[in-house]
Amino acid sequence: MNSRKGTARALDIPARSCYNANVKSHLMAGNYPAERKRNHMDRIYLDNAATTAVAPAVLESMLPYFTEIYGNPSSVHAEGRGARKAIENARRQTAAAIGAASPQEIYFTGGGSESDNWAIKGAAFANRKKGNHIITTAVEHHAVLHTCAWLEKQGFRVTYLPVDGEGRVTAQQVADAICDDTILITVMAANNEIGTLMPIAEIGEIARSRKILFHTDAVQAVGAIPLNVQELKVDMLSMSAHKFHGPKGVGALYDRKGIRLDTLIHGGAQERGQRAGTENLPGIVGLGAAITLATENLTGKAARIAALRDRLMDGILSRIPDVRVNGPREGRLPNNCNVSVRYIEGESMLLRLDLAGISASSGSACTSGSLDPSHVLLAIGLPHEVAHGSLRFTLSEATTEAEIDTVLDTLPGIVADLRAMSVLNANTTTVSDETFVCPRK
Ligand SMILES: Cc1ncc(COP(=O)(O)O)c(C=O)c1O
Repeated sequence: MNSRKGTARALDIPARSCYNANVKSHLMAGNYPAERKRNHMDRIYLDNAATTAVAPAVLESMLPYFTEIYGNPSSVHAEGRGARKAIENARRQTAAAIGAASPQEIYFTGGGSESDNWAIKGAAFANRKKGNHIITTAVEHHAVLHTCAWLEKQGFRVTYLPVDGEGRVTAQQVADAICDDTILITVMAANNEIGTLMPIAEIGEIARSRKILFHTDAVQAVGAIPLNVQELKVDMLSMSAHKFHGPKGVGALYDRKGIRLDTLIHGGAQERGQRAGTENLPGIVGLGAAITLATENLTGKAARIAALRDRLMDGILSRIPDVRVNGPREGRLPNNCNVSVRYIEGESMLLRLDLAGISASSGSACTSGSLDPSHVLLAIGLPHEVAHGSLRFTLSEATTEAEIDTVLDTLPGIVADLRAMSVLNANTTTVSDETFVCPRK
């Protein structure tokens, strides 16, 4: 006991009771207290598709599992049993949040990328004798696209369905692509860049009737829109805790009862022998708490966020000339606003917004830093120079009207400044005017 206190002092860790008191005071002010803003120097964070803040209630749920109930969930002693109980509770919470028939259909992973890899490679290799054809779309996250590309090198054949100008595939396209040797369909629930929702229930219907496995990457959809795996008729669904106010580096794969996947990570018998490695106990507890919190009153929360998103979108369209919205107005993630601003680079706008205390993105976080335009924006038919001028704002429950108004007051000046310096202008670009809308008078 004394030595613990000594260590805490040496590491400059506040006494536990004080730390808990801090967390509790945050909680009493709601999940996303105003103090958070002060701690973050009044910045406006609109990059929630890249990652979200851990909700204080989620953090508090995790804390005991670092220092008090820290046993190995495979151990038989009290500490181990406590850890096991917490994991099984998180499994129940996760299953309930997505309407799974049983908690046994939930497997914890190291995040969205691992869930996607496992579902796709696991299904491909488990069904290799039945066929070698996989159907996906051109706008999937790289966790899916690069996995499919790797499978092509292993002899699988992959169809990448094109999307319409708003980023959507139709169920009919999927149906038309099915061949005798099709073993897997993988289509994302919601696009991470432009927020397009895919017709998952319709695709699920087709896949189930044709007895083809159906996986959906729901990393951006879980916690953002209501999802029920049974109604959607999906066989596998990927999620990632850090996208819904949980911790990073932990995710889950829903794998419907009876669907056999080859194992990716061999070793111990964890996750019923399907995914080896000592479980990320605090992370899994955090995922369970986060998904429970995120899916509570989701319809109401989503409507509030969508109203703020529309305020932002309409405000940008009315205040800045030569801007277009990427993705649909309807059938879109409630928190996603993606626009292309003609004649300037998204990266330059990002840097200027950052200096003004506003965090946004010019594509998916994983690709920023690359000079290639986003594959999603190219797939919806944007010319390179327009794709380069894209900006993505993604809101959260913590976003306020005042923050949106600050962005609307700040962005037009940044755009005007950058346009004044831009070598691109109306005389040098080849983009047709119909691609853009004019500001409302
Ligand atoms: C649609 C989609 N799939 C998969 C991932 C990968 O998730 P993770 O970062 O947890 O590996 C992301 C992350 O941005 C995503 O947006």
